[in-house]
Amino acid sequence: MQKNPIIAGNWKMYKTINETLDFLKILSTSLNNQRADVYIAPSFTSLHAAKKAVKGSKIKIGAQNMHYESEGAFTGEISFKMLKEIDVDFVILGHSERRVVFKEDDCLINKKVLTALNSNLKTILCIGESEKQREDKMTNEVLEEMLTKNLLNVSKHQMENIIIAYEPIWAIGTGKTATSEIAECAHLHIRKVLTKLYNKDVANNTYILYGGSVKPNNIEKLLQEHNIDGALIGGASLKVDSFLEIINKS
Ligand code: PGA
Repeated sequence: MQKNPIIAGNWKMYKTINETLDFLKILSTSLNNQRADVYIAPSFTSLHAAKKAVKGSKIKIGAQNMHYESEGAFTGEISFKMLKEIDVDFVILGHSERRVVFKEDDCLINKKVLTALNSNLKTILCIGESEKQREDKMTNEVLEEMLTKNLLNVSKHQMENIIIAYEPIWAIGTGKTATSEIAECAHLHIRKVLTKLYNKDVANNTYILYGGSVKPNNIEKLLQEHNIDGALIGGASLKVDSFLEIINKS
C-alpha cells in the first residue's frame, strides 16, 4: 500500500436508524488522526440521518446501490437524484450480492456506473470471481471482462471517481479470506487491465480495495501488499470495536 488507506464498511441489510446513530456517535468521537479515510454505507433509510450525524467528521457516507434513471416507474428503486439531494459521498455498485441474488448483469452495472459518474458521485465498483471460476483458473479473465464491460465509456477523467473493490465471492461472509498473496496477485492484474484500458497513471492512481472476510487480525498483512489500498468490510464493520480496530491498524 502506498496511498492513505480507505477503510469502508458495507452494512448490507443491517442496522436501523437508531442503531446507525449509536454506532456513528461512538465512531466519530473515537477518530482522531488515523491515517485511513473512513467510509460507511448504511441502509437507504439511515442515509439522511447518518449524513447529518457525521457532519464535521472525516467519515464519508454512501449508498449500497442505486438505479440508473433519475426518476420513473421503477417500484422499490432509489435514484441518483434522491441520493444527491441528501449529499451522499459515494455509492457501491456491482456488489456480488446484487449480481448473484438480484441478477444484475454487467450491462446494467455499466449504466449505473455511468449515471453515478455523470452526476459526480464517487463509485466503489465491486468485481470478483466465484469459487468455480477460481478453480477453473479463470480469475484473471473474469476480472478483465468485468472491468471492460462495467467501465465501458468511462473516460480517463471520470476514473478519478472510481474505486475498485476486488471481492472474491468465495471469501465474502465465509470467513475464508484470500491470502494476502492471492489478493495482491488479483490487484496487480486489475492494475494491468486498467493500464490496458486507460494508461499507467490511471492504473496507479486508482484505489483498489480488497473485500472478503477482512478482520482485525488480517488487515495489517493485507495492507502490507503493494497494490492493496484499503478494504471493503461487511461483517467486521458492524461492531464498532472491530471496525475501529481495523481503522487503527491501517
Ligand atoms: P464480509 O463482506 O467482510 O462480511 O466478507 C464483504 C462485503 O460483502 O463487502
